[in-house]
Amino acid sequence: MITIYKTKNYEELSRKTADIISAQLILKPHSVLGLATGSSPIGTYKELVRRCSEGTIDFSKVSTVNLDEYRGISGDNDQSYRYFMNTNLFDHVNIDKTKTNVPDGMATDSDAECERYDSVVSSMNGVDIQLLGIGHDGHIGFNEPCETFPKGTHVVKLTETTIKANSRLFASVDDVPREALTMGIGTIMAAKCLVLIASGKDKAEIVKKAFFGEVTPLIPASILQFHKNAILVADEDALSECNI
Ligand code: F6R
Repeated sequence: MITIYKTKNYEELSRKTADIISAQLILKPHSVLGLATGSSPIGTYKELVRRCSEGTIDFSKVSTVNLDEYRGISGDNDQSYRYFMNTNLFDHVNIDKTKTNVPDGMATDSDAECERYDSVVSSMNGVDIQLLGIGHDGHIGFNEPCETFPKGTHVVKLTETTIKANSRLFASVDDVPREALTMGIGTIMAAKCLVLIASGKDKAEIVKKAFFGEVTPLIPASILQFHKNAILVADEDALSECNI
């Protein structure tokens, strides 16, 4: 069952998503938050930082798990997702960083790291809210379109579309890592609540396919239609191809 919040623009989308996360933290201070990187959640993180600094919300008892990390770059590299999380959120709120988890992209044995990451997630008694963005090809985390929905955390080869989309954040397309570690669809679907945020006209076509089309691993985000508590927060542009 999907609840849809339509917002005027990205700013309102970010406030609405911060409202949902703030409500969760107020109701349950020991919440486990599943977090995402990319452009979509930046406004939400800014708003959470603002609310934390004014004392409306408290991260001191919160634990987090991130969806994914590039393979082959370390957490202090400014292109890593660990670095993104530190600079956009963790460094600015009262969170205990030892309770924040991002897959280790530098692990020599990536398969063992994936197994370790799955046990970290399952030791947490469930992720309360998992935040998600959506790729133009429908990927969530780094689960790219494929034949079956992958279950646990695994290593993926990034598609050319994703490499190209992510190259905007790198000096050149050749600098974009070709592989990543990502939670699987099974890990993501195990969260108690999923919140997917989508903004902009360029996301309109995939939002329509994912939320109003067939559920298929060829559009990984379409699996959200089968979650019992999924929320789509999208602005008018991202919903412009849907009749709502
Ligand atoms: C990032 C992630 C990706 C992004 C997706 C959309 O942790 O999991 O699935 O959410 O690529 O990225 P943006 O928000 O930059 O459009």
